[in-house]
Amino acid sequence: MRDFKNIAVIGGGLMGAGIAQVFAAADYRVTVFEPNEEVRLSLKNRVVENLELMGSDVDIAGSIETSGDLAETVASADYVTEAAPEKLDLKREIFADLERLAPADAILASNTSVIPITRITEGLETAHRMVGTHWWNPPYLVPLVEVVQGERTSAATIDHTMALLRGLGKEPAHVKKDLPGFVANRLQHALWREAIAMVAEGICDAQTLDSCVKNSFGLRLPVLGPLENADLVGLDLTLDIHKTVIPELDRSAGPNPFLEQQVEAGRLGFKSGEGFRIWSEEEKNNLREQLSVHLVSTQRERDSG
Ligand SMILES: NC(=O)c1ccc[n+]([C@@H]2O[C@H](COP(=O)([O-])OP(=O)(O)OC[C@H]3O[C@@H](n4cnc5c(N)ncnc54)[C@H](O)[C@@H]3O)[C@@H](O)[C@H]2O)c1
Repeated sequence: MRDFKNIAVIGGGLMGAGIAQVFAAADYRVTVFEPNEEVRLSLKNRVVENLELMGSDVDIAGSIETSGDLAETVASADYVTEAAPEKLDLKREIFADLERLAPADAILASNTSVIPITRITEGLETAHRMVGTHWWNPPYLVPLVEVVQGERTSAATIDHTMALLRGLGKEPAHVKKDLPGFVANRLQHALWREAIAMVAEGICDAQTLDSCVKNSFGLRLPVLGPLENADLVGLDLTLDIHKTVIPELDRSAGPNPFLEQQVEAGRLGFKSGEGFRIWSEEEKNNLREQLSVHLVSTQRERDSG
């Protein structure tokens, strides 16, 4: 497999800093391009905070270079990950620049959450070396990276990217068709669609709905994926259940009107203090803390084998 040394990360916000941290922790030479000076100057401190949370060596942050010059950042890069804002036109401009400025054999990856890589790379000559790599937040604690094959992405680009990510201790998943949302976000939002529809219809309140998930199949999910679960209970039983349940599930083609009304009314969730539920500062902090503790302890279990 190809030997990568110099990693460039484009955009040093939430995801870019976390992705840079993962590469730096694995001893790659990492440079982050970030146009906003304030964000650029805060990057190392943010990485130190993440490393402290994980109980890892904070010196890793010191090895990350930052730059406000894109050409300089990518001039000797052999692997580039773009983590700029989720705007198609901006990502297209960045990829056109990267095609021109990075070495001809560098792999160019985008951390887009939902935009097909084929749309970002439209019209570019070297789309064979361009690939989607959808990391999850926080990138240093969530193992999945979806490796999305655009219509023109070469098999070699996929193989090298998968091997590189595996070497970082990640769980790369090859997504063979370039559809919005890839795999995991499509599944996640299929669940959210049904959850929102049930609350909107008054079947239960939001707290009860979350409790139903956390105290049932949510407990099994870390060891039992949905298709393993179907095999475990039997496809005959699964078919019988689907004959009754599937016709009842929400099948609306767009966002639920209830969600639209919540947003229009300014009920945005943690940001405004009320979303599906009302959140005090203490409740918000508790939930964030619980999530961090859970993700860190899961990571420690993985590290200890
Ligand atoms: N936040 C998440 O949970 C999450 C998860 C997975 C994927 N993503 C995706 O990762 C990407 C980055 O998201 P984020 O949450 O880190 O956003 P962010 O806003 O925290 O960071 C984006 C950074 O890009 C910088 N930027 C602006 N213009 C730029 C340019 N022309 N070139 C380079 N950098 C530029 C901004 O100054 C900012 O610091 C998006 O595509 C997003 O959809 C986000």
